[in-house]
Parts: sequence; structure tokens; C-alpha cells
Amino acid sequence: MRQTDQVAYLERMLGMVRTNTRDDGPGLSHTSVEEYYDPGRYQREVSLLFRHYPIVVGYSCQLRKAGDFVVHNDTGQPILVTRGTDGVLRAFLNVCRHRSATVETKPCGANKRAFVCPYHGWSYDLTGRLVGITDGTAFGDLDRSRHSLRRLAVAEKYGLVWVVPTALEEGAEAALDIDAYLGAIAPDLASWSMQGWELHSSVPIRPHMNWKLVVDTFLELYHFRYAHTGSVYPLFLDNIATYEQMDRHIRLAAAKRTIVELEDRPREAWRILDHAIVLYELFPNTVLAYTEDHCGIFTSFPVSPDESVMHLAVLVDPVERAKKTEGYWKANAELLQAAVGEDFAIGDAIQRNFRSGANTQQTFGKFEKALGWYHREIDAALAAGWR
Ligand code: FES
Ligand SMILES: [Fe+2]
Repeated sequence: MRQTDQVAYLERMLGMVRTNTRDDGPGLSHTSVEEYYDPGRYQREVSLLFRHYPIVVGYSCQLRKAGDFVVHNDTGQPILVTRGTDGVLRAFLNVCRHRSATVETKPCGANKRAFVCPYHGWSYDLTGRLVGITDGTAFGDLDRSRHSLRRLAVAEKYGLVWVVPTALEEGAEAALDIDAYLGAIAPDLASWSMQGWELHSSVPIRPHMNWKLVVDTFLELYHFRYAHTGSVYPLFLDNIATYEQMDRHIRLAAAKRTIVELEDRPREAWRILDHAIVLYELFPNTVLAYTEDHCGIFTSFPVSPDESVMHLAVLVDPVERAKKTEGYWKANAELLQAAVGEDFAIGDAIQRNFRSGANTQQTFGKFEKALGWYHREIDAALAAGWR
């Protein structure tokens, strides 16, 4: 995040403290409650957003060396990502071209030279090429070159790995222009230099909530004072936050109580992460939360209209990690988990209550405008479809 943007955000939030105002949008916004449980809507979201949009499926630190691999099934597509001996990161459908068995069954690993299908032993090299057919003569003149693992478009940048979970046509370009997709957010992500960071922990959580309701919980600070009294609220000022839509994504910052110490310090010395957290909603299902020494990454995936799986990962700069005890990092990760637990206890009830007939729509206040933006972007994506 550019220093000028950091100062501007901090000034804006200090101004809110001084005048007891909030980052209000022009008016209320709404979204229909049906979009959180309607099966037809759910299917359209999965088949568009989780098939044709770049989705975060892993982290660079899991895939540094040739033969490292990660399997990812949460989009509903079986995905295998691996790094070749040429250093290139590739993604495939993890499906054997013989009779469709799952080729790699472990969630992740290292030192692979080939992926061997557990059903009849067909093998694929790290570039996805079919290199071995058990008792191959029985397959006569089967064209091996046409039986490589099906490729997926993939990008690795800023410590994150994105995949578009639909098989590419033969010969199509696999490199994904993620900066074009991230738009105005890309320079920010570059500025946090997360490429060399390590995965401290990753835990899956299975809320009984629509996958978008999970994302909703990250898009306003209004709820902190009530929902997070037992965890993170003591660190923050009440609802002092600033929100910005950046292309189809969202950036927001939330002020910690220490922000008031900045008033009499020179602006050149202001660093936003010393006194605020900065969050990014990367359309459609990922939230990054940067704090002074780590990044929480929340990825929400649809399981059914009323259920999702969210991975809560913590990425840490190894230099920062070494400065503090493991107990400190563990406590940090547990605090995030506690906050998410508080959100999801309320969210589970919201999901059930949607069908009660009490509300036909959710109401977003002026400082809940990021929720309005988020749902408008989802609606726009569904309306545009896929070309
Ligand atoms: S299904 Fe993979 S070798 Fe037969
Ligand atoms: Fe929350």
C-alpha cells in the first residue's frame, strides 16, 4: 500500500474519531435473502464463479521446489498443482485419462518425480505428460500425447496461487494474467512482499452458512463491539473503518485503539499496520487480513446452498516469525479462530433464519456499504455470465 494511501486512510480514520463520524456511503443497500439459499442461484454461482474465475488454491511456500505438490478439491473440481524441474508451476485436473480415477490422493507433498494413478498405474510426469501405461501393448496405438492430464490456467504471485478450475483446450495458454484480474489491488499486494512468507497454520472450518454469508462477516466493523467482545474487540476502536471499492475487489482498514497516538507524530513515520489492520476482499471468495506481523487468509468455498468450508490460514514472514516465540504465533492464530467462531455462531443462526419469512432482504447501513458493493459485484458477474 503506497505511503500516501496509508496516510490518507489513517487521516480519514483519525478524522472519524475526532468528529465521531463514520465512513458512510450515500444510503442504505440491500440484497435478497433468497440469494443465500436458493438452489438455482447456488448452482449458477458455482458454475460461473468457481469454474471461470481465478480462485486461491494454495500458497507459494507450499510449492517452492520441483516435485512439491498441492491437491485442492474445495471448488468442486479436483485440482493438482505442482512445480516442474523447469521451475514452472502447473495445475491440472487430478483425473486419470484412463478411467478417471483420482491420480494423486495425498493433500500435499514433496519430491515427486511422477504421479502414478492408484487404479492401474498409469503415470504422469510433472508437466502432466502421460509417460507410462501398465502393460501398454494392450492399448495398441493409443496416442499418449493426447492423454496428458488436463491443464488448468494458473498464476503464482504475491505468495498466493490462483487457478481457474476449468480444463483448458489443447494448446491454450495456461499462464493467467492475475495482475489484470486484480487491477488496482495488485500494487498493494506487491507492496506487502508476501512471496517469501511461510504458512504458519491452516485450519478448515465448516459453518452452516452460505459461502457468501461467510465473506459478509469480514466486510464491516459495525459488529465488533457486540459480537467480538470476547476476542478482538478490545484491540479496536468502535466501528472506525474506511472502505474502498477497487475494481471488482474491496480494500478496507480498521483502526486499532492505538491510532490516536499518531496525532502528534510526523506523517512520514506513519505506518498503517502499526495502528490498523488492512483487509482485501479478492473477488469472489478470498479475504486477506494484514496485521503488523502476519496475514490471515480466509477462503470460503461452497459445499451446499447452506454450508461452506472456510480455510483460515496464517502466513508469516520467516524473519518476523523468528523474532517471536511459537507461543505468540499460536495465540495469534487462536485469537483469529476465536473471532471467526463468534461470527459463525451468529452466522449459522442467520442462515437458518433466512427461511423463516421474517425478512425478504438484508439491510446494509451506510457504513456497511462494502456488503452492498460485494453483492452487487456478484450479481453483475452472474448477469454477465461467461463468454
Ligand atoms: S484409472 Fe488411472 S490407470 Fe486406470
Ligand atoms: Fe467478525
